[in-house]
Amino acid sequence: MGRDSAWWKEAVVYQIYPRSFYNSDADGIGDLRGIREKVDYLDELGVDVVWLNPVYDSPLVDGGYDVREYRSIHPDYGTMEDWEALRDELHERGIRLIMDMVTNHTSDEHEWFRKSRRGVDPYREYYWWVDGDPDSPPNNWESFFGGPAWSYDERREAWYLHLFDQKQPDLNWRNPAVREDIFEMLRWWLEKDCDGFRFDVINLISKPSALPDGDPDLTPRGREYFIDGPRVHEYVREMYDRVLSEYDIMTVGETSHITVEEARRFYEDGLDMVFTFQHLHIDRGDTGPWDFDDWDLDELRDATAAWQRGVSEQSWNSLFLGNHDQPRMVSRFGDEGRYRVESAKMLATYLFTLRGTPFVYQGDELGMTNPTFERLDEYRDEETIQQVMLALRSGGVSTFDQIREAVDFWSRDNARTPIPWSDERNAGFTDGEPWIKVCENYPEVNVERERDDEDSVLQYYRRLIDLRHSTPVMVYGRYAQLLDDHPEIYAYLRTPTDGSRSLLVVLNFFDGEPTFRLPNDVSYDRWEKLIGNYESASRDSIREFDLRPYEALVYVLE
Ligand code: NOJ
Repeated sequence: MGRDSAWWKEAVVYQIYPRSFYNSDADGIGDLRGIREKVDYLDELGVDVVWLNPVYDSPLVDGGYDVREYRSIHPDYGTMEDWEALRDELHERGIRLIMDMVTNHTSDEHEWFRKSRRGVDPYREYYWWVDGDPDSPPNNWESFFGGPAWSYDERREAWYLHLFDQKQPDLNWRNPAVREDIFEMLRWWLEKDCDGFRFDVINLISKPSALPDGDPDLTPRGREYFIDGPRVHEYVREMYDRVLSEYDIMTVGETSHITVEEARRFYEDGLDMVFTFQHLHIDRGDTGPWDFDDWDLDELRDATAAWQRGVSEQSWNSLFLGNHDQPRMVSRFGDEGRYRVESAKMLATYLFTLRGTPFVYQGDELGMTNPTFERLDEYRDEETIQQVMLALRSGGVSTFDQIREAVDFWSRDNARTPIPWSDERNAGFTDGEPWIKVCENYPEVNVERERDDEDSVLQYYRRLIDLRHSTPVMVYGRYAQLLDDHPEIYAYLRTPTDGSRSLLVVLNFFDGEPTFRLPNDVSYDRWEKLIGNYESASRDSIREFDLRPYEALVYVLE
């Protein structure tokens, strides 16, 4: 496939959650014109690709992942002309634009489902319908949002499958007409000069026709059948052969609970990379959606190393620590208090110095933290609300207060608060009332302030992005781990394939001051600091030195 070097390997991707990026018309909701007004910000930051979360027409039950019409823009975000204008402005600055493509399910308000529900051909078998008794669903599968994955439709007098909200029915990919329609729609966007796709939950699109009951001990139930289902690779390969292969684009598949072997197979099928979540499971408890556990560096290092060696080196992979579904990375893996700035920079160093394509989630370049949500009515995310209601209804908890803190930590809304542009009212995001609360630390964490501060998280990201563009070993170097079991320090080399300079990366993941000792078998003639998140300490040698809290250091070894 000639994919040894490629623009998407060298690119830095910036993820925009449009609802919270910038509001141009004072209705409190971020929009496409708002993004256009801030295109220079993206240019200054130096990113190469923008991934836009869904902006399609939608009832917005699940942040737009419930698509009503794939070829039009939701009025909250603007019009197709606004999208085209944004695309052009990005392209003028050499920034590519990839769309979030939701093909596992549609909204129940999509025309296909409305017709399918009435049994109208050719849409009758566009979804997973099963006839049967309205009191007993076809199997015991659960939705990712909690509760049964089946709802009974009175009109058609049959059950339909939805692995997410009941307003998000799953498409039946076994039906060639469904695939045909999806491929045609993908082509439509590619002909409009979009530069690729982030495929939502792509490893869920195939389910076994027999619909067997799932193991009751797994969550969500049935996942051993619908994750990486029987025909998933056949479908992805068909999509690649028939559509994607004809364009110079970038594709990334969202793939939850996926193994290293499966990830490599998706690459062979034609996807450029996938999102793995193994490193984001290390702090998940196993008693329910709000359970979190302490994590330790061994777990993060092991998960990272498995994917560095097994995927990034043999095929290619994405690098990320946060997105619109996860808590803010600094609140989760760093220190959102005293060492916010240092730890945000340290985590950024981790992202940019591994092998793979880095994805920056909007606001992480400012070191944004989780906000504090006190009351249930402050949440906007349907998953959060549904899971809380389910816990209350099932008697698992008796009051919201019992899980308030855990919900506050885990809710997807943590990542969905508006970008703080300044310390003005509503953080300069809108002149109206924001659709979701603004994170309370915006007077300190905001673009205006960080633009003017050489030591800010924002400026550090700019430097890292520049370095990635000018330092091939940061992109293509092999990953060679050092100090396999140090409890506080994560260290590795990136070794070039062409025998030139190596990088030594040393990351202190906690607030202690451990001593770093370079293993004796690492030799070099000269060393030079490439980047770090503290003023340089004067140092004669890098064989042994003490690290400061959350210190990150990258050296070039020659
Ligand atoms: C993954 C998306 O990232 C998430 O936000 C959404 O709820 C589900 N897929 C369902 O589309």
